[in-house]
Amino acid sequence: MERIIDLRSDTVTKPTDGMREAMKDAEVGDDVFGEDPTVNALQEKVARLLNKEAAIFVCSGTMANQVAIRAHTQHGDEVIIESESHTFNYEGGGGAALSGVQYHPIKGDRGVLDPAQIEDAIRPHDHHFAPTRLICLENTHNRAGGRIYPIEKIRGAHHIAKRNGLAMHLDGARLLNASTASGIPPDRYARYFDSVSICLSKGLGAPIGSVTAGSREFIDRVHRFRKMFGGGMRQVGIIAAAGIYALDHHADRLGLDHANAKRLAQGLSQIDGVQIDLNIVETNIVVFDVSEMGIDPHHIAESLKERRILMIPFGKALIRAVTHLDVSAEDIERSIEIAADVFSSLKRRPGTNSPSRKMS
Ligand SMILES: Cc1ncc(COP(=O)(O)O)c(C=O)c1O
Repeated sequence: MERIIDLRSDTVTKPTDGMREAMKDAEVGDDVFGEDPTVNALQEKVARLLNKEAAIFVCSGTMANQVAIRAHTQHGDEVIIESESHTFNYEGGGGAALSGVQYHPIKGDRGVLDPAQIEDAIRPHDHHFAPTRLICLENTHNRAGGRIYPIEKIRGAHHIAKRNGLAMHLDGARLLNASTASGIPPDRYARYFDSVSICLSKGLGAPIGSVTAGSREFIDRVHRFRKMFGGGMRQVGIIAAAGIYALDHHADRLGLDHANAKRLAQGLSQIDGVQIDLNIVETNIVVFDVSEMGIDPHHIAESLKERRILMIPFGKALIRAVTHLDVSAEDIERSIEIAADVFSSLKRRPGTNSPSRKMS
């Protein structure tokens, strides 16, 4: 039987043999005491990569964002955030539950906020309002199809933040994808932020782990909240070793994922009923519109699954496919071929093409 091609997310990668070797050989210690040499090496490596004073290893991208929000804010503060961002939509209400903050969501242009929108959202100094304290941006932007946040918009947001005494946090879960595609090094993006989180377990292919970087004083505060949130880990060098391996061996290959995503988008765009703007596929995420087919994206994803191609329904009209380490150029060709076949048979099948089908 043909193997499954899993395009649901870049989080699905399995550790490579080389990565498993590195994990096996990792020196470890108790990281809650700061004594794990491999964790310390990873933290120093990421701090250097982002040109920040310090960094802290955490278990997930969600935790990386949430500990940063907690360390930047006081209960009752307001956080300006893009309304399609991961932090606003998919982190379980963490901002309210863990930090007691109020998000002020603003709809961007495909995930990107204009600096003027940010300025307009800042609350006046008046006791009626929750004081604005933090701006959160996302690069690349997941729901916007892996969009690279334009650096001039980041710089504009930074100037506004400085003028108004606000902190800036970057959800850089896929920052290295942005850097690979734009040619702008990670530290050039990072300089405009007080804190930056990156994920090791997405395109980089590690099984677990994210890192948040910032000033030494900020990371010291984050340490306390990581412990408070139950994220203090012990001999975790065994996992940090996978992160070091990922940065050393997998960062340079992200361009292949981007080329695969472009080819996938181009192939899908030839299929009747699929709408996709090829110009917006900048990194490893392809989001395409199937509304013209009048078939529930869940139904389409199920039909693709029967043919061993996995993609994720993304709302009422969209489907998302993500390329990664475990997907080859040949896999992409097979996915396009099967998708074309599935889409044409779905269109022929009576009862599946009713535009009024309800989402399950
Ligand atoms: C942009 C972005 N930020 C944060 C996260 C959260 O990462 P995790 O699933 O490791 O909590 C994700 C996960 O997909 C993401 O896409």
